[in-house]
Amino acid sequence: MNTDVIVIGGGAAGLMCALVAGQRGRRVTVLDHANRVGKKILMSGGGRCNFTNLGVTPDNYLSANPHFAKSALARYTPHDFIALVEKHGIAYHEKERGQLFCDISSKLIVRMLLDECAQAGVDIRTRCTIENVQRTGEGFALRTTHGPMACASLVVASGGLSIPSMGASGFGYDLARQFGHTVLPTRAGLVPLTLSGKHLDRYRDLSGVAVPEVEARSERKAFRAGLLFTHRGVSGPAILQVSSYWHPGETVHLDFLPGEDAEAWLAAERHARPDRELKTTLSERLPKRLAQRLCELDFGSRPLRQYPAADLQRIGQRLQDWPIVASGSEGYRTAEVTLGGVDTDGLSSKTMASRSTPGLYFIGEVVDVTGWLGGYNFQWAWASGHAAGLAV
Ligand code: FDA
Repeated sequence: MNTDVIVIGGGAAGLMCALVAGQRGRRVTVLDHANRVGKKILMSGGGRCNFTNLGVTPDNYLSANPHFAKSALARYTPHDFIALVEKHGIAYHEKERGQLFCDISSKLIVRMLLDECAQAGVDIRTRCTIENVQRTGEGFALRTTHGPMACASLVVASGGLSIPSMGASGFGYDLARQFGHTVLPTRAGLVPLTLSGKHLDRYRDLSGVAVPEVEARSERKAFRAGLLFTHRGVSGPAILQVSSYWHPGETVHLDFLPGEDAEAWLAAERHARPDRELKTTLSERLPKRLAQRLCELDFGSRPLRQYPAADLQRIGQRLQDWPIVASGSEGYRTAEVTLGGVDTDGLSSKTMASRSTPGLYFIGEVVDVTGWLGGYNFQWAWASGHAAGLAV
């Protein structure tokens, strides 16, 4: 089979690239080793796909080159994707912080992409393993389980390493290395953190306790969102966000009363209700089990009037700077994304084309661009796919 464009990987980025290239009249084939395309879209956002975020800026992404994503994000914006969603009559809503979700099901997003691909004449082949890729004079020759194939442009959209059970593979990184690209070290991102030993013993029986809003701080970034204690450590949106900035050995600091002055609050409480026990006071603002545990671990629990002002001051400070010593993360098994990947230095930020191998492109998560939680990763997939789709 000979075609203009082969896209390896029928996920968010690959399908977007394929439909845009197809609309331009290019003959496009998408190859995916899974039994169906778009599996991560289907499982995303709890089955409702948080397909973009109204507040997307380049600052919402991690990359060795923070400028790389700017061009593609500017040329395909959340509003471009929303226009596509609306054209297909898919109902959606903003959940919070600019996050847009389908009202009904993420299946509708996959259906939309497949309908657009079908209209653009894109050929999609699943259960196809790519055994070998070689550069030829005119482009690329592929040996696959669907037979030999050749194309002028080859787009690598095979994603990262997260959730191997969903078909994730290191294929894109290997192919990048084969063509002389640097692959920056990868690690799991947007992932729960695990605790061990005495650090786990302190919180293990809080498993299931959720705090609606904390501020989780790493050495590089702070996020305000929910926290969840698990039987192995800590999770919830604030932890997932901060995990992408966390490195082993670092302590995560939690502010249990973000945006407030805990010292002043405790001082006022002592004045107003001096006979009340500290744990009862803390339970007004925190889940009861957590309030009790903080008292057991550090503060003690006596009537407030028995705490000297300096002690309450220290407790207030501690409530806003509670250290959590994580030993690791849950890893790729549950991570939403893979940090690192194909070094952007080797790619054009306008087209996602390889600077060294004409006709070769890398898009989506395989590239060293990783978004925050909240629809940013799909927006990168759409934008980078769109950029390459216009160029192949
Ligand atoms: P993606 O992983 O989507 O697609 C890669 C494709 O390549 C797959 O179809 C795979 O089968 C195929 N492939 C891999 N290796 C291959 C090989 N060797 N040969 C052939 N094919 C191969 N983001 C967001 O913005 N909003 C959200 O709500 C969520 N929710 C979410 C939930 C969960 C559970 C996860 C794991 C992730 C999310 N994400 C998310 C992240 C988002 O899913 C992710 O960033 C994008 O899917 C990345 O798109 P890609 O197209 O780059 O890879």
